[in-house]
Amino acid sequence: MGPREEIEKLSREINYHNIRYYRDDNPEIPDEDYDRLLRRLLELERKYPEYVTPDSPTQRVGAAPLEKFEKVTHPQPMFSLQNAMDEEEVREFDRRVKRFLGVSGEIAYMAEPKIDGLAINLIFERGRFTRGATRGDGREGEDATQNLRTVRSLPLRLLDREPPAFLEVRGEVYMRRSEFEQMNRERAEKGESLFMNPRNAAAGSLRQLDPRITASRPLDLFCYQLGRVDGRAFETHHEALAQLRRWGLPVNDRIERCPDLSAALKFYRKILAERDQLSYEADGVVIKVDRIEQQRALGEKSREPRWAIAAKFPARQRTTVIQEIKVQVGRTGALTPVAELEPVEVGGVIVKRATLHNQDEIERKDVRIGDTVVVQRAGDVIPEVVSVVVAQRPKSAHKFQMPERCPECGSKVVRPEGEAVHRCENRDCPAQIKESIRHFTTRNAMDIEGLGDKIVELLYEQKLVRSIADLFRLTLEQLSPLWKKAEKAPQNILQAIEASKKTTLPRFLFALGIRQVGEATARDLALAFGDLESIARASEDELQAVEGIGPEVSASVRAFFENKENQTLIKELLKAGIEFEKIEKKGNKLSGKTFVLTGGLSSMTRDQAKAAIIRLGGRVASSVSKKTDFVVAGEDPGSKLDKAKELGIKTLSETEFNKMIGD
Ligand code: IVH
Repeated sequence: MGPREEIEKLSREINYHNIRYYRDDNPEIPDEDYDRLLRRLLELERKYPEYVTPDSPTQRVGAAPLEKFEKVTHPQPMFSLQNAMDEEEVREFDRRVKRFLGVSGEIAYMAEPKIDGLAINLIFERGRFTRGATRGDGREGEDATQNLRTVRSLPLRLLDREPPAFLEVRGEVYMRRSEFEQMNRERAEKGESLFMNPRNAAAGSLRQLDPRITASRPLDLFCYQLGRVDGRAFETHHEALAQLRRWGLPVNDRIERCPDLSAALKFYRKILAERDQLSYEADGVVIKVDRIEQQRALGEKSREPRWAIAAKFPARQRTTVIQEIKVQVGRTGALTPVAELEPVEVGGVIVKRATLHNQDEIERKDVRIGDTVVVQRAGDVIPEVVSVVVAQRPKSAHKFQMPERCPECGSKVVRPEGEAVHRCENRDCPAQIKESIRHFTTRNAMDIEGLGDKIVELLYEQKLVRSIADLFRLTLEQLSPLWKKAEKAPQNILQAIEASKKTTLPRFLFALGIRQVGEATARDLALAFGDLESIARASEDELQAVEGIGPEVSASVRAFFENKENQTLIKELLKAGIEFEKIEKKGNKLSGKTFVLTGGLSSMTRDQAKAAIIRLGGRVASSVSKKTDFVVAGEDPGSKLDKAKELGIKTLSETEFNKMIGD
């Protein structure tokens, strides 16, 4: 096989595995095998740059920034949808369809969640992704090819030996709620402005002139509609969607074929009821006539097809009045201003309180006490104040001032340099202690049932628990008097505490409440390092070598483990008998070995090299010492190589290094 054929074959293979990994969350081969394929492709492409194609899996991470977006005309115009605000309007739509088609029986529909993101148009020529654009005015949009290429669940090639000559597919780029929240949390910590909702975040991320910024944002994609297709025809919309899925395109699996309107309405009610549990924001259900022939006969009117309708969900935004702004102290000591509202029903839930995030956000939105504001509730997250209705501001409205002293313990409040958050830095602040105990016991942390907010409060007030470790010292004699009658609760609590001792490292790490370490990061750390001690010992460099861990997280992890009180806490917890299930570290071939990297590597970035070493159990140090086992010397190595030679430490060429991590 010549290099060109091999490049082609590798691209195909990697493309397939990308779909398994990013679209299906179900990889077929271990990461190591995947990395090997990718490395081989990189190596070949480096040698034969003339064979690098724009749809190569290596071309995903951020091309050079653009000056501006070019305008492109969509092969077929992108329509918008008529809205139905309630079930009656959906029934009216069904009657219209039947009347127009002259049908007396039932119409078959396809029902799909209406994803709240940003509509895009994708073009595949002979199976290769060649262009992507935003919707724009429906006729003409902006070329977003480079940015769309960075969306991992978008395959750059269709899985088809004989793909259609031309394929136009419509879909929605969106951000999962959990990703959106995490991103906003990180932005808040950095003092950056927050995105209002996942849709704005998705749109803002796609409309970046620098594709590298887009690449760093957690964007996802669902495809839901065909445009122009050459050389392939479908009888029904559901067949078309099934084919999109076979081609490797991401299609929502919560879509349903409905034999008639009542089935479609049932689907609408079901999705509405599940709305808060969906991982993405849905603002309604799209109901489409399933038969393409009938769609054609119905046609469109003023840029809206007669064959589809958006059955909207009730709004998640309402206006109400801010009666007071109070301050809550979280487990990290962060002070969060919270608006106390005139109670209002938002999307089916009564809302009395909404977060204002931090001082900067209050100022940016110019929120004042007494203002009428728009409150929003997205999914099961905390309601927030979105904006002020300035026209309704009363004379008596007044500004809020962050208190200078912690409302819980009276300590001085500080705002650390470069942060948007005000903090109470008193580690003995009752609010912080109670919140960290609460966090420790939650389901995804140590999962101690029976220790709800009220009980934690009580235990604290009774001075029975003043630190997390105290939980493990509780006795029946202490607990029983807290319940009036002879109840089982104290016993159950003690049992739950006992049972929680058998846990996993990711849970424990998360439970510790280290700033910036959420569940996903805790898992990554546990998998990369294998045990608590290694994490506690890891330098910032070593921490950052784990994929997804940046300077802020690594600094926070370091600070946590360097803190004496935390060290004592961990010792006490381990002494109390907490133990972890053994975890399979992602390889341990390099365990105990310390590497130093110098010079540039051509087949990977330095971070990738670090990540590979850590994945295999090794350590990466920043300077050469007697403890160094290997120095990897890339191109233009620095003085570290001289030092290595001086100390007689083994040096590895890039090829040798690749061999070592590859086998
Ligand atoms: S079909 C002619 N299906 O809703 C049909 N649209 O207001 C065109 N949307 O611009 C759209 N989920 O951004 C369709 N499953 C879905 C959808 C969906 C979200 C968005 C899309 C469109 C807007 C219409």
